[in-house]
Amino acid sequence: PTSSVCVLDSKDAAEVAPSRPSLESIPGPTNWPIFGSLIDLLRRGGLNRQHEALIDYHKKFGKIFRMKLGSFESVHIGAPCLLEALYRKEGKYPQRLEIKPWKAYRDLRNEAYGLLILEGKDWQRVRSAFQQKLMKPTEVVKMDAKINEVLADFTDRIGSVNDKGKINDLYFELNKWSFETICYVLYDKRFGLLQENVNKEAMEFITAIKTMMSTFGTMMVTPVELHRSLNTKTWQDHTAAWDRIFSTAKLYIDKKLKKHSSGQTEDFLLDIYNNSQLTKKELYAATTELQIGGVETTANSMLWAIFNLSRHPHVQENLLKEIRVAVPTGHTPCAEHIKNMPYLKACLRESMRLSPSVPFTSRTLDKDTVLGDYTLPKGTVLMINSQALGSNEEYFDNCKQFRPERWLENKAAISPFAHVPFGIGKRMCIGRRLAELQIQLALCWLIRDYEIVATDYEAVEAVHSGTLVPTRELPVAFVRR
Ligand code: HEM
Repeated sequence: PTSSVCVLDSKDAAEVAPSRPSLESIPGPTNWPIFGSLIDLLRRGGLNRQHEALIDYHKKFGKIFRMKLGSFESVHIGAPCLLEALYRKEGKYPQRLEIKPWKAYRDLRNEAYGLLILEGKDWQRVRSAFQQKLMKPTEVVKMDAKINEVLADFTDRIGSVNDKGKINDLYFELNKWSFETICYVLYDKRFGLLQENVNKEAMEFITAIKTMMSTFGTMMVTPVELHRSLNTKTWQDHTAAWDRIFSTAKLYIDKKLKKHSSGQTEDFLLDIYNNSQLTKKELYAATTELQIGGVETTANSMLWAIFNLSRHPHVQENLLKEIRVAVPTGHTPCAEHIKNMPYLKACLRESMRLSPSVPFTSRTLDKDTVLGDYTLPKGTVLMINSQALGSNEEYFDNCKQFRPERWLENKAAISPFAHVPFGIGKRMCIGRRLAELQIQLALCWLIRDYEIVATDYEAVEAVHSGTLVPTRELPVAFVRR
């Protein structure tokens, strides 16, 4: 089955469908009555370990397989040719799997949807309102001053909370860093999360986001209508968390919009609001979801980059050399310097290949679609597994090795569809460029001042909770250069 051929024809499913095998003939793990493959997943460590099981399934069944968890059926794709076929057949408004608990809250409070949950023409309208500011390179580079202001505080903090090089709960520190950065970029407001005594409002905001994220998973696998009608604790906590998130976000957005009347120019939110037809409600929802999409993902990618560099001192040496040449002594690293730092970019790419933050994303097909050997009906949920791609020897030689050089040597040898940590097509991550700039600058600041040292060489495993989180405190120390 691993040799399943990709057929990259551009014809519509309707033209060729009759001769192609359908969904039912796609291979996959044993599908037991009622439970589907849930039993096998539980045997392999549960939903927290599903990323490992999915890689195994791709190894066993090949580029495409089908899986049922209870009544939820999905088709998993993990081959560049299939992703390319999907990309070429993408419609105007690609869809991801619905996040019903989030929609239920918005419907309850009569709030709008943001980019993570919008669909169709409304999604496109909101997306295009933010697209310029977030995806155009010349716009994103302008954010470097704000990113750097937070980084100055972050590196100070790494210096002050450092116990013989060890940082207690590095992941939390990184989450505070990315939270502070995205809030500063979006609301033009410093929350002070990197100070010794974090203010109460900031702490409540960050705690509310944590609660909201930890309560929605349960309602993705059990009917949210039931939680709502029984007013379960999960529903209550989820709703209270969203209330706090929305009230805080609204407060800062309203402050921004008021400043508008006092004549302030260049500003992220003001520019978007003034240059689009978005209503205030839409602005609230879209901004809140940008914030939610950007915090843990960025912190997590930075965490794994730190880990990979700690285990590869020679890579760190090369990176330090590049930083010292590109950023003159006494200068603050900025977006302009990054342009001349191919090795830094390769390090981040390689880290995101080997240790992705978001191992897969999804699409719900809006029409019958031919993919490889199969015809998939409208409504099929596809899981696009970027982690399986990145850990496949067929697409990356010595794929277990952290070797940034692979991205510089023979670029043409790597298919662009083999490395998709930010998703693909029109619906790919809108914060990608901001996240990359943020992490690249952070690495410049850190590596320049500190040697990141591995404190043990035991394996570090990960559990899946939206992002891939290490199961133990990272064995790293920051030693001042
Ligand atoms: C979507 C990953 C940073 C906001 C996504 C998707 C992935 C992803 C895999 C799904 C794309 C798809 O379905 O094709 C990441 C990673 C990040 C990161 C790994 C950090 C390294 C950010 C940041 C922001 C953000 C900084 C906010 C500025 C969003 C939003 C969407 C999204 C709003 C939904 C876009 C849409 O559907 O139109 N991200 N992301 N992300 N991300 Fe990110």
